Formats: sequence, structure tokens, C-alpha cells
Amino acid sequence: MIPPLLDALGYFDLPPGRLATLVTFLEMTERPPPRALPPRPDLVLVPWPRNDRDGYRRLFRAVGEPWLWTSRLRLDEAGLARILEDPAVDLFRLERDGRPIGLLELDFREAGQCELAFFGLVPEAVGSGAGRWLMERALERAWRPGVRRFWVHTCHLDHPAALGFYIRSGFRPYKFAIEIFEDPRLSGLLPREAAPQVPLLEPRLTRPGSPAQRSTGVSGLAPHSLHEPS
Ligand SMILES: CC(C)(COP(=O)(O)OP(=O)(O)OC[C@H]1O[C@@H](n2cnc3c(N)ncnc32)[C@H](O)[C@@H]1OP(=O)(O)O)[C@@H](O)C(=O)NCCC(=O)NCCS
Repeated sequence: MIPPLLDALGYFDLPPGRLATLVTFLEMTERPPPRALPPRPDLVLVPWPRNDRDGYRRLFRAVGEPWLWTSRLRLDEAGLARILEDPAVDLFRLERDGRPIGLLELDFREAGQCELAFFGLVPEAVGSGAGRWLMERALERAWRPGVRRFWVHTCHLDHPAALGFYIRSGFRPYKFAIEIFEDPRLSGLLPREAAPQVPLLEPRLTRPGSPAQRSTGVSGLAPHSLHEPS
């Protein structure tokens, strides 16, 4: 059964203070052949100390703030500890010349599967070959005996290279979803200056929606025509 929102076609105003993103789910069901990469003695993968929640939050912010990552920032201490201390979750930081530049989180909590739960570099490390090196390490660790599926999701608010990078890594897109969420810059979860590529709309300045052109048959939902005067 399709939920009412998704049964309707067209453009829909988001309520003030909210953002929406198109999420792509990708998977692979066998390990791709390992790649021969140039040696990178400057890069080291370091297991994350499981009780270092503040350090984890700092690295999560350093990697994810430009892309509005917030899921882990919304967890309280107990919620975050449950994940970080779970032996079925493997966590690493990537260091370059001794400085943390990336985050790798592999989630094996579902039997037979591994989710690439978080994967990313700090902005100054993007485009330097470190992402490909980190993906090779992720593939080595994800495809442990008993794993039949390795999957990930990325959204259009992530780095624009991410989706293509995952596809070149051997993941195959299989599903889209829409995620609607509160703009974390308005609640104070992220600084107002985060992700300047995504305009920050003050709720009080948001214009009310224009009249509907036709009914969707869904209570409270009305699409906007493409040709509606703006
Ligand atoms: C997604 C992400 C990890 C991709 O990493 P990246 O830095 O673009 O990746 P790299 O520079 O390592 O690799 C990109 C390509 O350039 C090549 N490359 C670039 N610079 C290189 C260098 N100095 N030496 C060797 N290869 C290099 C890589 O081999 C790779 O080619 P391939 O994909 O055909 O194998 C990165 O953009 C990122 O962390 N973004 C922010 C967080 C994010 O959006 N994460 C994903 C959300 S789920």
C-alpha cells in the first residue's frame, strides 16, 4: 500500500522549517575484485575507542556538517553508547599523517548483512584518493564470512560525488525514498552557517503556499502546477 503522500504527483510545499531529500539505496551481493591502488603510507585506519562519544561526535560533525548529517547528533548519551559499544558495529577513523580525516562505520547488527552506515572524509581530504583507499578497507571488512549483502544509502544533500563513487565501488542502486526532516540549523543542532549550499529559510519569511491547481484527493495535500506564477 502506497502512503497517501507518495500516491500523489506534483510539487508540494514543505511546512516551514523542514527540508526534504531524495535518498538512493544501493547494494551489492558479492564482493567486487580488490583494486590495486598505489601505496598510501600516509593513511592509517584506526579502530575507534568505543567509549569516546565526544570524539566520535566531533569527527561526525567534521565529516558530516557540510552535508547536514545529524542522525547521531540527535541521540542522547545512552542511545549513542548503545551503538558505539555494540560489538556488531565496527567503527574506525581514518588518519592521514596522524590527523583524523575520515569516518568508517560498518553495521553488522542484521544477520547476513552489513550496512555501510557512515562513510566520509573531512572536506579538505575529499578528492585526494583517500576515499577510494577507505572504500577498499571497507570492502575488506564488510565481506566477512556469513555476509551476503552489503548496502548503503546516500541522499542528494550528501557530497555530489558520493552516488557515482558508490556505483563505481560496485554498489547497485535499487530503491529511492524521500526523507523529510526538520532543518537542523534552525533547531541549533548544527550551526546556521552549515551547508551554505542549502538555503536557510527562516520560517517567518516563508511564503504561504499558492492555491492548489487541482485536488490530489489527499487531505491537506495539494500539488503546485509547474506553470503556476511564482
Ligand atoms: C563520498 C566520498 C567519500 C568520495 O571520496 P573522494 O574523496 O571523492 O574519493 P577519491 O578522491 O578517493 O576518489 C575519487 C576518484 O578519484 C581518484 N583519485 C582522486 N585523487 C586521487 C589521488 N590523489 N590518487 C589516486 N586516485 C585519486 C580515485 O581513484 C577515484 O577514482 P575511481 O572512483 O574511479 O576509483 C567523499 O566525497 C566524501 O567523503 N564526501 C563527504 C561525505 C559524504 O558525502 N559521504 C557519503 C555520504 S553516504
